[in-house]
Amino acid sequence: MIEKIKALAKEYEQEIIERRRCFHMNPEVSWEEAETTKVIAQELEKLGYENIRVGFGGTQCGVAAEIGETGKMIALRADIDALPLNDEKDVVYKSQKAGVMHACGHDSHAAMLLGAAKILTQIKSELKGKVRLLFQPAEEHGVKPGAQAMIDEGALEGVSAVFGIHSMSHCSTGEIHYRSGPFMAASDAWELVITGKGGHGSAPEAAVDPNAAAFQVGSALQTIVSREISPKDTAVVSIGGLKSSSHVFNIIPERVEMSGSVRTFRSGVQDHIEEAIRRIAIGVSESMRCKAGLKYSRVIPVTFNDPALTELAQATAESLIGADSVRESELIMGSEDFSYFGRVIPSVYVFLGVGNPEKNSGFPHHSPKFDVDESALYLGAAMHAGFAWNFLEKP
Ligand code: NI
Repeated sequence: MIEKIKALAKEYEQEIIERRRCFHMNPEVSWEEAETTKVIAQELEKLGYENIRVGFGGTQCGVAAEIGETGKMIALRADIDALPLNDEKDVVYKSQKAGVMHACGHDSHAAMLLGAAKILTQIKSELKGKVRLLFQPAEEHGVKPGAQAMIDEGALEGVSAVFGIHSMSHCSTGEIHYRSGPFMAASDAWELVITGKGGHGSAPEAAVDPNAAAFQVGSALQTIVSREISPKDTAVVSIGGLKSSSHVFNIIPERVEMSGSVRTFRSGVQDHIEEAIRRIAIGVSESMRCKAGLKYSRVIPVTFNDPALTELAQATAESLIGADSVRESELIMGSEDFSYFGRVIPSVYVFLGVGNPEKNSGFPHHSPKFDVDESALYLGAAMHAGFAWNFLEKP
């Protein structure tokens, strides 16, 4: 059957590429993917999908739809949102909207899953269960993650497992990369406000300088990973923002705001870092006569690949493209809201290589020149359908 699925994917290749270009030219940012949603829903209706649900999170964005008769159900997920970024590529399918661009490949995700949708209609009578397709809005949103909204509104009800693919420009075209267990990092965000007492730059003794405290806090925070976390663990503590309430050369400001990002793979490490940031930020600030307040948010959980599902994904990929093109991935410090699905039911997420410098598709994700090598997309469609088939075949 995998051979047949691959042949069907190849047959639909042009259609998949054209759809991707259409999405690429008409990008929509998180929670505004109403037109993209319409195109997807119309296609699913045309293909005869059932239980088509349109609109999640109180919007017109996102689609869930089903195929198959009875039995267990597998969900296949694609995110569909673009980013607030200017497209700086010189291609015929360049974004038609100023300031909006598919710079993470989610256009290709939607196109690949629609390709898989069509493949599944051709093998529908032989499916040993059901497949639910999830076209998810707002992966990039952060504050209101599309995955969580879909879960809250029942997208996983009756589903035994979820599978997803990300097109990746750092992986060579046509390869599939997998990793069992923790795969992509948990992402936390923090905001620190250090308050002192403003004054004249010439009279520090009459002021309490929050800048001086912020400098000490900034370097002390860098001892968390190096001195408090085991070298066998992997973690990042980064300071992103640093802003004084005054930027005048001879004023000691009242206040400094600092913000940062934390990436971890284990909950014990995550707990420790949250506690340490609080302890150090507040303790160091107070030791320098300032007051400090910290807001710490756990934004995205770790993406955890279920070992049995990962084995199945690896086997599916190997039968599709050969073992030489299937690789074990290293840990990825980036985060992905697909992880919300994995907190509810077993899930597996893999990367499809779309990086090919000869076709200008080696640029980093979220950069204005990002592009995908479209010759890999039919493999993504085949991988979706092939994984669903193999999952449903298992007793
Ligand atoms: Ni992405």
